[in-house]
Amino acid sequence: MTIAQQRRSTGVLFDVYGTLCNIDTLSHVCGDLTADPNGFLRLWRSKQLEYSFIRTLVDDYAEFGQVTWDALDYAAAIHGVTLEHADRRRLMHAWLSLPLYDDVRPALERLAQVQITCAVLSNGSRRMLQRLLTHHDLHGLLPHVYSSEAVQVYKPHPQVYLYAAEQLRMSPSELLLVSSNGFDLAGAAHVGVRTCRVNRAGLPLDQLGIEPDFAVESLDTLVDRLASSTG
Ligand code: LAC
Repeated sequence: MTIAQQRRSTGVLFDVYGTLCNIDTLSHVCGDLTADPNGFLRLWRSKQLEYSFIRTLVDDYAEFGQVTWDALDYAAAIHGVTLEHADRRRLMHAWLSLPLYDDVRPALERLAQVQITCAVLSNGSRRMLQRLLTHHDLHGLLPHVYSSEAVQVYKPHPQVYLYAAEQLRMSPSELLLVSSNGFDLAGAAHVGVRTCRVNRAGLPLDQLGIEPDFAVESLDTLVDRLASSTG
């Protein structure tokens, strides 16, 4: 299927952390605590994901704020950082106002103009996602917000993508997941959701046995292709 054919009945599902929002900026917030803020942040993020995957595998869901908090504790212990209550609040709070990548708002505005259904599908808890979207005044452009909290398992579990399809009353093949996260692209592909990889950083593809249907360096390219098929 070409992207033009894909456009005809498409719901676009956007991943949030790392795709719409730039997590790397959190290293500034970690900078007051450690001489290696980038290493601290890398460990924090990787443990956050690892804990979400493990909790899904052992069927012991905890909401994403808790998982993020637990991962922060682990990163602090490894880096020999003592977290005061105020540090913890500041670091956790930063997830609620992460900056958007520059291409995000213009892309969402153009997708709204051509009346493509856009939704968020994230492992973030409902509360975290609502706070973030409110911070950026994005509710109008992203009217559908789906959190894995609703099904109590995390992406890339199939149930999360099927839940979004059910909510949108679309079949998986009518959906396009846009994500920078390899595990997310693999999860979507396994249930028949089409995938677009956003690779702003020029990273190699995760070796998970799937090729994304489309790969772009910024959302502009994706939107150009989707919008060019509307005329
Ligand atoms: C998200 C994170 C896990 O689902 O990237 O938004």
